[in-house]
Amino acid sequence: MAKKEYQKPTGTQDIYGKKQRYFEKIEKVSWEVSQEYNFERIQTPIIEEKELFERSVGDQTDIVQKEMYVFETKGGDKLALRPEGTASIVRSYIENDFYKKPQPVKFFYFGPFFRYERPQKGRYRQFHQFGLEVLGKNSPALDSQLIQVFYQIFKRLDLEVVAKVNSLGDDNCRPDYIKDLKKALKKDKDDLCEHCQKRYNDNPLRILDCKNETCKEIVQNAPQMVDNLCKSCKKKFQSVLEYLDEMDIPYELDPFLVRGLDYYTNTVFEFFAEDGELALGGGGRYDKLVELMGGRETPALGGAVGVERVAEFMEENEIELDDRSKKVFLAQLGSSAKKKAFEIFEDFREAGIPVYESMGRDSLKAQMSRADKLGAKYTLILGKQECIKDQIIIREMKTGKQETVPLENIVEEIKKRI
Ligand code: HAM
Repeated sequence: MAKKEYQKPTGTQDIYGKKQRYFEKIEKVSWEVSQEYNFERIQTPIIEEKELFERSVGDQTDIVQKEMYVFETKGGDKLALRPEGTASIVRSYIENDFYKKPQPVKFFYFGPFFRYERPQKGRYRQFHQFGLEVLGKNSPALDSQLIQVFYQIFKRLDLEVVAKVNSLGDDNCRPDYIKDLKKALKKDKDDLCEHCQKRYNDNPLRILDCKNETCKEIVQNAPQMVDNLCKSCKKKFQSVLEYLDEMDIPYELDPFLVRGLDYYTNTVFEFFAEDGELALGGGGRYDKLVELMGGRETPALGGAVGVERVAEFMEENEIELDDRSKKVFLAQLGSSAKKKAFEIFEDFREAGIPVYESMGRDSLKAQMSRADKLGAKYTLILGKQECIKDQIIIREMKTGKQETVPLENIVEEIKKRI
């Protein structure tokens, strides 16, 4: 076959069909649950000043060093396609004086993000996240509650997940811990992978979550942040864990969880499917970020979930796409039946039951074949006779069994069956 002249850029996807339906479900459920916890929806630009991410995410991180799409506009502005959402929310919080609102302010967002990564399963250059950010209040209860909201979203999507949690301490205890960590790793430094040898100087915490087998072995015996927290960080972390216990959220302590962004303090978390290697989502507290970005001192926390990864996980687990999979097809024969069919279609639509039709086709055979292709569970057939008698035929597609019922109650009748 001839090569098509244009192809989508590497690491991007056309999202349609079943995948699109999974996306819709994830967006719907994540927004629905977030609203129940009083989050407000926000949209920020997809482009932002490049420096916004350099300062917040950290200029030594992989995201900024290797993965950010940056460009200069015709006017000379240096912009980036957003690689993540937190920096923009913090910018918006400061720019719009959100500190004047009752605190905490709680934001939900959903949209595309961009990272120049090596494309592979679950890793794209354009991907989607839904995220939650909570700014303006400092309480360990909020950390656990945020984890709870993500957990409830996964639950409503019928997904079993486990949260991994850790604490990264704060400016008070982390610098000393990093010194200890470097001291402990010094003798094995030459055996670390090439990346980690560089990280040893630039970003030593990241050595802890390196996937290289030798690095993994080396860090097993290294000191852990959880054992080196100062008194106040320790107390906070203990409270977070106590709340999680009380909320019955399945979690594991993971002392090697450090996250790939620099802005975190104290609690960090990631969600995994059982046996999953790639995180479905992650986040944590970032109590210093608002100040670092030019705002007043503002405790904050948040997290984000990768929509592609969740959609793939749902597909692998054959999670039902509820209503749409229970298709009802409405077939009509003759002009009076067609007119009536329009009305019935509206009745179904108003009752929130998805129903398919093919008003452009006249032959019953063509319509039945369409119903077959759509995988309809029931086809409703309305012919001239039925119209006169105010009846309709329900055909169960799998068995071919047909039944004539009064037209009046058809919506209720179908509701009962699907
Ligand atoms: P992150 O861990 O970099 O955190 O990304 C969150 C999630 O986005 C990941 O767990 C993953 O599911 C998904 N993700 C990341 N990169 C890709 C990719 N290349 N392809 C597909 N999915 C991807 C953040 O972005 C933070 N802003 C989260 C946060 C919010 N922390 C505090 N507030």
